[in-house]
Amino acid sequence: MQENQDSIFQDIPELQRVESRKEGTRREIKSYVLRTSYIRTFQVEAVKRYYPLYGIPFESRPLDFSKVFGNDNPVIIEIGFGMGTATERIARERSQYNYLCLEVFLSGFAKLLDAVGRNALANVRLMRFDAVEVLRNMILDGSVAGFHIFFPDPWPKKRQQKRRLIQPDFARLLAQKLAEGGYIYCVTDWEEYAYQMLDVFADTPGLVNPFGGFCPPVTWRDTTKFEQKGLAKAHPINEVWVEKR
Ligand SMILES: C[S@@+](CC[C@H](N)C(=O)[O-])C[C@H]1O[C@@H](n2cnc3c(N)ncnc32)[C@H](O)[C@@H]1O
Repeated sequence: MQENQDSIFQDIPELQRVESRKEGTRREIKSYVLRTSYIRTFQVEAVKRYYPLYGIPFESRPLDFSKVFGNDNPVIIEIGFGMGTATERIARERSQYNYLCLEVFLSGFAKLLDAVGRNALANVRLMRFDAVEVLRNMILDGSVAGFHIFFPDPWPKKRQQKRRLIQPDFARLLAQKLAEGGYIYCVTDWEEYAYQMLDVFADTPGLVNPFGGFCPPVTWRDTTKFEQKGLAKAHPINEVWVEKR
């Protein structure tokens, strides 16, 4: 167990900082400051209990999907799952797939880890690491059945737009990692970004858009937290689905 705990602290150093701080007050015992956000006691407990079972540390070598999931079912990678509510439902309803779920935001990571652990969702694994690095270093070419990218940060200001995830280089990386017939499914409430997605994927060799534009709403996706925010502002929700052929 000590070894497990040490490896959790390597992957999630914020927990160590919190653990090593003197917990003199009730507030410090209940809440954990993480830059500007908090993770709650149940989330810290979830990380300690479930990370050794469902968490995967970053390593600079390819991940063996069969070994990680204990079967050869096709693997979907979700990038930026946020609080993970849509993820959990999809993993239950489309249980013929395995899900490798990537998120850097600790509070959301711990929340989904808690849900996965409590419900023993055997087809889900989580990594708290930059998706770009994970794809480059740990995912074999032609090995992924699908990518889910729901409401990626829109970076609306012109000077910030270079931070957007869906850019030509990243789209090429996604295409390279997809198996033949695999898909990329993105949703956004930021209309101009939605058109950027269509354009970027249209210009990516090997990707085909079977809908010729936005795809009809996919029935198995639950409303996400950021979707709710977009809907509250009357933003249109656009879905993009492309396939590797
Ligand atoms: C706008 S939120 C959307 C969250 C969730 N999909 C939803 O719809 O509610 C985008 C999420 O992507 C995560 N993210 C952004 N870049 C990432 C990266 N390179 N690797 C992993 N996660 C990333 C952020 O931490 C953030 O939680």
